[in-house]
Amino acid sequence: MAGTSLDKDKIRVLLLEGIHETAAETFREAGYTNVERRSTAVQGDDLIAALEGVHFLGIRSRTQLTAEVIAASDRLVGVGCFCIGTDQVDLAAASQRGIAVFNAPYSNTRSVAELVLAEAILLLRGVPEKNALAHRGVWAKSAVGSNEVRGKTLGVVGYGNIGAQLSVLAEALGMRVLFYDVGAKLPLGNAASADSLADLLRQSDVVTLHVPDTEATRGMIGEDEIAAMREGAVLINASRGKVVDLDALAEALREEKLRGAAVDVFPVEPKSKTEPFESPLQGIDRAVLTPHIGGSTEEAQENIGREVAGKLVRYSDNGSTQSSVNVPEVSLPAHEGAHRILHVHENRPGVLSAINATVSEAGANVVGQYLQTRGPLGYVVTDVDDEGAPASEALLDALRAISGTIRARVLF
Ligand code: NAI
Repeated sequence: MAGTSLDKDKIRVLLLEGIHETAAETFREAGYTNVERRSTAVQGDDLIAALEGVHFLGIRSRTQLTAEVIAASDRLVGVGCFCIGTDQVDLAAASQRGIAVFNAPYSNTRSVAELVLAEAILLLRGVPEKNALAHRGVWAKSAVGSNEVRGKTLGVVGYGNIGAQLSVLAEALGMRVLFYDVGAKLPLGNAASADSLADLLRQSDVVTLHVPDTEATRGMIGEDEIAAMREGAVLINASRGKVVDLDALAEALREEKLRGAAVDVFPVEPKSKTEPFESPLQGIDRAVLTPHIGGSTEEAQENIGREVAGKLVRYSDNGSTQSSVNVPEVSLPAHEGAHRILHVHENRPGVLSAINATVSEAGANVVGQYLQTRGPLGYVVTDVDDEGAPASEALLDALRAISGTIRARVLF
């Protein structure tokens, strides 16, 4: 097992906000026994106190890791956001301290794809409306306007991780998949790229949106786009709330231009269960409204626990920063037979040559070196032969003394 400059049982891990048990398991399996779990978010001065002596912190979206909290932390090396977003962390402040931040952007891809597929099936059968009528005592038994998804066209707008995963599942049910993306995408299976968004809207029985929230996607589906859709088509949005003009959608549903819609994300969403939720789609039986739960499954939580804890363990064990959201990304091989020196510094001329001069003066033999920069940060990983003149505390001290150094550590 890889060694770290500190014994693993002295490396403290704090996991807040009820992060799934798989995270603690991942740390323990890698030899990190000093793992504390708490079920709630911690803020401000309480967070500063809780972070004393903590090397790795795990949070979800509620804990605010502000510049003040980061500045007050004495040992923090890495932060795991066990969720998608990282807005709750002051990334610039973390970068200045050389603290690597990781998240889990893709652990819930499958969960979203499954929900969308289920909604496509229910909407093409008119189930949301029939369900609502049945609750009100109306027996709306009819085959008219009720279709199988087999042989129908699914139009996927945004063929990224979720769009592509959905494409594979939909084809397994016999759907024809068309997609539209601004980037050049490799079509999976028999999926085909549409010539334009208008072309996709014209051809699709089910239109589903999987784009990010950008200036270009805000209001991307408005009155004109809905008018360009097929009569009786359905629209699904489990991407971001501002992509669809909900007033235009409500109108199209009331006029029965569209057979139905499923919306999981809204321009304004309540921050907690106690805040009221309002939408122009309320009261429309053929609209399925869900409270941003596309990615919220137990499986996704398990995956997030494993994914983010795995990234923190790899960073601690071998210095790998692959998929970090703020520090330079370096993917590293194992360092058998070598001591690995990790050096995070300000990205300015002269630091690399000073590192190499210092290592060379110590008589250490370099067997591998990896360098990456990102904005104001540079990250150099130097493997030195563990025989002869291996890395020592004295060498580490000399490296820390180099002007521009943010942090340095060694892995044995
Ligand atoms: P991704 O980044 O893998 O894919 C997004 C795709 O959209 C990319 O292929 C990109 O090229 C494309 N795109 C960007 N701008 C576009 C434009 N103007 N027109 C057409 N295509 C465009 O993202 P991923 O993981 O597939 O997520 C998609 C969306 O789903 C994101 O907005 C994400 O926030 C949301 N999401 C929602 C969840 C929920 O609970 N409802 C859970 C997880 C993700």
